[in-house]
Amino acid sequence: MADTPSSQNGDTVCKSRGQWAGHLGFILAASGSAIGLGNIWKFPYITGDYGGGAFVLVYLICVVIVGLPLMLAELIIGRGAQCNPVGAFQHFHRKGSPWQLVGWLGVASGFLILSFYSIIAGWAIAYIIKSIAGFSGSAETIQSQFGALVTSPGASIFWHTIFMGLCIGIVVGGVQKGIERWSKILMPALFLILLGLMCYGLFGTHAGMKALTFLFKPDFHKLTAEGVLSALGHAFFTLSLGMGAMITYGSYMKKSESLLRDAVTVSFLDTFIALMAGVAIFAMVFNYGLEPSQGPGLIFKTLPVLFAETGPWVSVPFFVLLAFAALTSGISLLEVVVSYFIDQRGWSRVKATILWGGMIYLVGILSAVSSWQIPFIRGKNESFLDIFDFITTNYMLPVGGFLTCLYIAWIMKDKDRSEEFGSSGKLYRALRFTLRYITPVALVVVILHGLKLLPFMDYSH
Ligand code: PFF
Repeated sequence: MADTPSSQNGDTVCKSRGQWAGHLGFILAASGSAIGLGNIWKFPYITGDYGGGAFVLVYLICVVIVGLPLMLAELIIGRGAQCNPVGAFQHFHRKGSPWQLVGWLGVASGFLILSFYSIIAGWAIAYIIKSIAGFSGSAETIQSQFGALVTSPGASIFWHTIFMGLCIGIVVGGVQKGIERWSKILMPALFLILLGLMCYGLFGTHAGMKALTFLFKPDFHKLTAEGVLSALGHAFFTLSLGMGAMITYGSYMKKSESLLRDAVTVSFLDTFIALMAGVAIFAMVFNYGLEPSQGPGLIFKTLPVLFAETGPWVSVPFFVLLAFAALTSGISLLEVVVSYFIDQRGWSRVKATILWGGMIYLVGILSAVSSWQIPFIRGKNESFLDIFDFITTNYMLPVGGFLTCLYIAWIMKDKDRSEEFGSSGKLYRALRFTLRYITPVALVVVILHGLKLLPFMDYSH
């Protein structure tokens, strides 16, 4: 058990709590949080939409200059305080400090993201079953199955129930016996499945080389300002940043681990998995002579048409992969909310998980019913799922990330920061410089873009 930490003004914020049993447990759980629908579903389709190689290069740069420093910042705060995001800001600043609002924003973001993430994850589980039965018929018939699923509230709610049930079942087990144990099973399984699919893409189709060229040979003519901004926004969604997930997971870490090494490992694994998924998917897409720019329907509409040719031995592992990736991210979203109620309100884990998991489940139903819409937030009627996704990705996460960055770079004491980082040498000074001058500027650009306020962009369409 961790020592009971106390805040700078001497108040005890978090009581003794769980810790990862081992170093590997943290790496797998944190990579599990980072590797999710963002890697297997979103990264390939935005890469397809924004033209491939040049977008990938910009994305890699964004991971290094925005994602990695922010992940380190969150781990420093989390492990330093050994507390949930709200308590962590109280610990380093003071009880009642306005900075604890950043923690609150994180808890609210976790709640809202999981409510709609669970709907999409539920579709992935539904597609495992559809894959076992096999896809057949014309392209239109296969593609229309997705529309039928999305517009059927009963089906979406059913799969949402299954997914939330799994998340609650794992998180109730606690840090070691729930999250860590399942991450140790699901993450290696995910890696092996993806390795198999990538080998199929590279050697089992005739388009392996074409996929590699598309992903890794930059053609800067295809790169747009919109593409650069999407790469930036995606870099920190995919690393689970800006909402306290890494603060929470960091809070269960032992003091003896190197945060720099761990942040680099998790960011690397996340990026590597996204690229592997890209290779597997684009090899199949090119093999059947399709265009890469298929938009969000790439996974649920385009690929099933191809799976009708390949058969269930490719499609079943693919959707199992998607569901596993979503599950390890879903549990981290729930854990942020649950850890707040355990630490700050003294609730038992069972009570916090079931009650708040249940609340998230209920709010998720809003997103499951695509015909329930919010009028005119962005000038038209849109589903709750689209609006929740838009608000969290464009406003809540970037604002959370920006404020976390400001706190650690400008407010936190140098001594606290360097002690957690483990040195005050060159690397530490480089991190401090990046967190002061580069990462926040990049995040402000993302926020302004979300508000459609960037002067050089055309927002007329
Ligand atoms: N990183 C996850 C993904 O790429 O799908 C999404 C996510 C999970 C965001 C957990 C934030 C979070 F706290």
